[in-house]
Amino acid sequence: MFHSQWTNKNSMRKHIVAGNWKMNGTLEATQKLASEVVNMYNDEVKDGTEVVMIPPYIGIQEVQRLAKGSGVKVGAQNCHQEESGAYTGEVSAGILASWSLDYVIIGHSERREYFGENNALLAQKVDQSLRHNLAPIYCCGETLEEREGNKHFEVIEKQVSEGLFHLNADQIQKTVIAYEPVWAIGTGKTASAEQAQEIHAFIRSLLAKRFTETVAAEISILYGGSVKPGNAKELFSMEDIDGGLIGGAALQSRDFIDIAKSF
Ligand code: 13P
Repeated sequence: MFHSQWTNKNSMRKHIVAGNWKMNGTLEATQKLASEVVNMYNDEVKDGTEVVMIPPYIGIQEVQRLAKGSGVKVGAQNCHQEESGAYTGEVSAGILASWSLDYVIIGHSERREYFGENNALLAQKVDQSLRHNLAPIYCCGETLEEREGNKHFEVIEKQVSEGLFHLNADQIQKTVIAYEPVWAIGTGKTASAEQAQEIHAFIRSLLAKRFTETVAAEISILYGGSVKPGNAKELFSMEDIDGGLIGGAALQSRDFIDIAKSF
């Protein structure tokens, strides 16, 4: 197995389990899911694991209301790259930050694919979120075609370097990275723990080269793609996997919390 020489599971890296609700969440479903997650989190999740709910924009305030005082964090799925202005339908990082959000997902593969977001644009979004003290969860991941063509290392390196390597050490330390192989998203086909570890260690080695080993050892790298209660333990036991970005299973409170208990 590929190990990064910079890895240290005993470092101060945060364990994070974030639920990306994607375009799901009527008012009723939002209230039910968020309150169940908050209750189960309070009863069952041990200190030290950060649990984040990431609903559609319109559900954020209600999720925050239900999560208040619980320690469960809340994030957004996207932000615009400009500070403010005439961009009908968009939400800026500054607006999100003013609502006291903790995280924003940047560069999810669905944004890259369906909304044409490229690395240069995503670098701007990362800058906006950091400017407003909102921690970006920067996503990267190869398609099936890229993996089969043995291009996955190249693709990941390009996404990570073009999206993040203009940052300074202080900024990158506030950033979370999520590796989500596109072929594993919503397909029920998870990357094996070894495949995921290999890429996570690779990402950490890139960070160590660009920044320092100490900086690289402190950045949380999450895995996403068909994470379920049945495979989370094995994935999270890998030395460079610091948690998960969960899609489908985050819509079931029981599954989501069981995943958060898998460290
Ligand atoms: P699934 O867990 O449904 O595969 O989705 C993963 C994902 O895209 C999270 O951002």
